[in-house]
Amino acid sequence: MDRTGAPRESTVHEKGRLRLRPWHVEDAVFHRALWLERDLRVPAHRRVGADGRPTVADLEGWIRRYVPEPAPGLLVVELRGSGEPIGYCGLVANSVGRPDEPELAFEFLRSSWNQGFATEASRAMLELAGSVGYRQLASTVRDWNGASLRVLEKLGFVRTGQVERDADHGDSLLLRLNLRHGDADAPDPT
Ligand SMILES: CC(C)(COP(=O)(O)OP(=O)(O)OC[C@H]1O[C@@H](n2cnc3c(N)ncnc32)[C@H](O)[C@@H]1OP(=O)(O)O)[C@@H](O)C(=O)NCCC(=O)NCCS
Repeated sequence: MDRTGAPRESTVHEKGRLRLRPWHVEDAVFHRALWLERDLRVPAHRRVGADGRPTVADLEGWIRRYVPEPAPGLLVVELRGSGEPIGYCGLVANSVGRPDEPELAFEFLRSSWNQGFATEASRAMLELAGSVGYRQLASTVRDWNGASLRVLEKLGFVRTGQVERDADHGDSLLLRLNLRHGDADAPDPT
């Protein structure tokens, strides 16, 4: 049950070390911690401002309004053992307007980095995306984001050569994974 007494939505995926589930209003606290930890190279509108916004209340509002599209949307990733949320992973609308090719997105608390969690959660998400029926996924990554590029490489994404130049925040690279022919089912080498 959540704080309003409504039943919680069910787990979407549970395997290995992780559970992927829809957002609960209480996740606003950990979601804001993610915002606070963001790299200074991330554009200012995606970081907590000098006015403290977004506040926890702002993010509670986002969660209440959130529509998980393209399906299954962004899901909270929590540790199966403790139930502690450590990040999110999922699909967002394609930034260059291709509805047939959603983008994979992920973000994890720094305390959980470099333990294979983003890769493990993304593998689960690729399975879910395949079962929804998507044939391919995209991802856009800043050229300075070595960890994210490495996760995508481990998943089988390849660079398309398309680059959106941004002298202020770093160029955005477009990568793509063919779900039918990619190596999403290959064993994780980590
Ligand atoms: C990107 C992110 C999700 C990775 O999460 P994670 O759980 O640490 O990822 P994993 O542990 O599954 O894999 C990380 C890989 O990157 C490597 N890595 C870490 N820092 C790196 C760096 N600066 N440069 C290159 N590779 C790096 C790790 O060694 C590991 O590779 P390996 O398994 O071959 O050793 C995490 O760093 C994060 O939340 N960053 C901020 C949000 C973000 O950038 N999201 C993506 C936006 S496109």
